[in-house]
Amino acid sequence: MDGGNYSVVSEFLLLGLTSSWKFQILLFLFFTIFYIASMLGNLLIVLTIISEHHLHSPMYFLLANLSFIDTGVSSIATPKMIYDLFRKHKTISFKGCITQMFFIHTVGGTEMVLLIVMAYDRYVAICKPLHYLTIMSLRMCTFLLTVAWTIGLIHSVAQLAFVVNLPFCGPNKMDSFYCDFPRFIKLACTDTYRLEFLVTANSGFISMGTFFILIASYIFILVTVRKHSSGSSSKALSTLSAHITVVIFFFGPCIIVYVWPFPTLPIDKFLAIFDAIITPLMNPIIYTFRNKEMKVAMKRLFGKVLSVRKSSFMHNLRNSDSC
Ligand SMILES: *[C@@H]1O[C@H](CO)[C@@H](O)[C@H](O)[C@H]1NC(C)=O
Repeated sequence: MDGGNYSVVSEFLLLGLTSSWKFQILLFLFFTIFYIASMLGNLLIVLTIISEHHLHSPMYFLLANLSFIDTGVSSIATPKMIYDLFRKHKTISFKGCITQMFFIHTVGGTEMVLLIVMAYDRYVAICKPLHYLTIMSLRMCTFLLTVAWTIGLIHSVAQLAFVVNLPFCGPNKMDSFYCDFPRFIKLACTDTYRLEFLVTANSGFISMGTFFILIASYIFILVTVRKHSSGSSSKALSTLSAHITVVIFFFGPCIIVYVWPFPTLPIDKFLAIFDAIITPLMNPIIYTFRNKEMKVAMKRLFGKVLSVRKSSFMHNLRNSDSC
């Protein structure tokens, strides 16, 4: 197929979330606050875990990697959306659109696999505690993370390969605030039935499949915890409920958007807000407010930063004294 001859559309027009001014101001405040909070929160988690040696365990390494991925998730569509809120013509170039879809699916696919890895880590820690350190070694952890990124990349490229050469001859209006396969494919001027099926099969399958694997493994872990209920089980339960909350917030919208993507529902674009903005903030909230070890570590990190600043301040004072 020679797409070049047909492609008269070089950019797309995003319709955004709303055209009401008042609502736009509200959204602007809401998105800006959420975006800044989730970037700061996630970076703080990564910094805390990297700088605290006693948090150098598989569980916290995986958490740091999840936070790192979440800074990516929230940075793909949100900054442009905030910038677009007050633009009359919210345009995005063809290349920009492809780039957004590439990153959304690479990072999203990786996050899904990472959540399975985290569930597996909890399974080993709770059900095989004596073998935990030998099974979840640092090498295993790094290996599983590499697998997660590879699957994410393959998942993304496998869909992009089919759509980069699609012919577009107008219209170019996309009723959303970012580019994604369902609405993108719909605008192509060709028979898209098979492509629609492909996206449902790929993205729909990976989100449904991962969701069921996760729910099944958490039920399994919960049952095991209840059988061996002891002093440590309440801590395990709180960690698990944190994981399960993230899973439900992350997959709920994904499944609705991808499993029944055609016809695209008007509500899809509002659901996407969850994955783009709200879910990335879940980690910092859950792990900073509810996890004692993280709280203590963060306090110590702040203490260190403050004392370094204080001592360099004193140092400067002394130096300025002498001259
Ligand atoms: C991700 O996990 C690895 C351990 O496998 C760790 O060395 C690395 O620092 C983590 N990355 C981030 C960004 O925390």
